[in-house]
Amino acid sequence: MPKSTSAPRTYRVKSFGCQMNAYDGERMAELLAEQGLTAAPDGDNADLVVLNTCHIRERAVDKVYSDIGRIVKDWQGAEGTAPLIAVAGCVAQAEGEEIMARAPSVRMVVGPQAYHRLPEMLARAQQGERVTDTDMPVIPKFDTLPARKRSGPTAFLTVQEGCDKFCTYCVVPYTRGAEVSRPFAPLLEEARRLIATGAREITLLGQNVNAWEHEDDKGRPIGLDGLIRALAALPDLARIRYTTSHPADMTDALIAAHAEEPKLMPFLHLPVQSGSDPILAAMNRSHTTESYLHLLDKVRAARPDIALSGDFIVGFPGESEADFAATLALIDAVGYAQAFSFKYSPRPGTPAATMPGQIAPEVMDERLQRLQAAVNRHQYAFNLASQGRRCEVLVERHGKLPGQWLGKSPWLQSVHFFGDVAIGDLVTVDLTEAGANSLKGELAG
Ligand code: 5AD
Ligand code: SF4
Repeated sequence: MPKSTSAPRTYRVKSFGCQMNAYDGERMAELLAEQGLTAAPDGDNADLVVLNTCHIRERAVDKVYSDIGRIVKDWQGAEGTAPLIAVAGCVAQAEGEEIMARAPSVRMVVGPQAYHRLPEMLARAQQGERVTDTDMPVIPKFDTLPARKRSGPTAFLTVQEGCDKFCTYCVVPYTRGAEVSRPFAPLLEEARRLIATGAREITLLGQNVNAWEHEDDKGRPIGLDGLIRALAALPDLARIRYTTSHPADMTDALIAAHAEEPKLMPFLHLPVQSGSDPILAAMNRSHTTESYLHLLDKVRAARPDIALSGDFIVGFPGESEADFAATLALIDAVGYAQAFSFKYSPRPGTPAATMPGQIAPEVMDERLQRLQAAVNRHQYAFNLASQGRRCEVLVERHGKLPGQWLGKSPWLQSVHFFGDVAIGDLVTVDLTEAGANSLKGELAG
């Protein structure tokens, strides 16, 4: 058994992957700070390193092992000591045992639903134990975490976790577990804390955020639209966003909220994955291309200026050139303001990993390039169409040039401008020049 370790004084939490991991990473950092640890300054070694991992695609997993190697190699502590390494997140959940066997320097493996127990795990790890916790007590996790203490102008708030959809390529239902909605009162409380500590914009997070449902404070059943309306009533909150949504849970009530609630930003990330119906069926997506387009028609009728975003997978098993052409046609039909695209990655234990017709890597490369070229064209067109508009921009940080600021438009575009403003201000800006990935603006008045 390894000898006991002196108490760690500094920590670093490194999050990979999705925005929910970023949220979890912040909450783990708050938990460690409450234990008296301080964040290691940039560039310094940390006594405790938490790698908050992503399992969604293969390359994300490989990064974990190369990171572990680098942390051990770069360690500058006293002779005979070693950093405490914890692997958290979805790789921990899916491959905890394998990590413990393959990486002896890892002392703790903690799943995404168990990280509220990090302090006890840390105490045991200091006694020389190697500790694994991959239980899934989702609601107790949130109940146990310390209250939020500090927020920038934009904040994440996890309202829903897990997924019951079982798309055939995806590990999320296995790593994050079944769909669970957090109750109304603690969500309002967390939102109030975020606002009191600086948040002007809150993005509600969930693997299927639009599947959120619970009772409100009067015991009435409500959906995400009801939660959004309740949050919109909080006076100092200026903007609300939500991500990621599933087409099957896009209710008329939520669409109506886009028409009626001014604090709900005109942006919708609604992954479709493919524009070919046979591929959508093989993916076990519960929609067709037509039903997806019909849904977008309703969304656009409610909020004509809405910016649409999506996720795409190229090279799903069996994807023919005609299937791929149908995806390109869908992209042209929708005209996305932005989109994320990925090469299909076979994930162990998922049905698609053993399907016939796996696609050669060079075919995937070529399709990804064509798809990204199409998406970039539409993104630029969307930005060009915004040129000349006047809109509110939430100031998020300093730009690269002296006196320059960077903020976000309602449509989630990055906007660079100069002027006498401060981080967290909501200012009126004229969008003057569109680029591929951002716009330049001028402070109005
Ligand atoms: N391979 C490639 N992309 C994937 N995604 C999920 N699973 C896989 C996989 N096995 C993508 C989907 C999803 C996004 C979060 O990641 O597009 O919407
Ligand atoms: Fe994965 Fe599909 Fe669930 Fe999204 S909806 S998390 S892609 S299984």
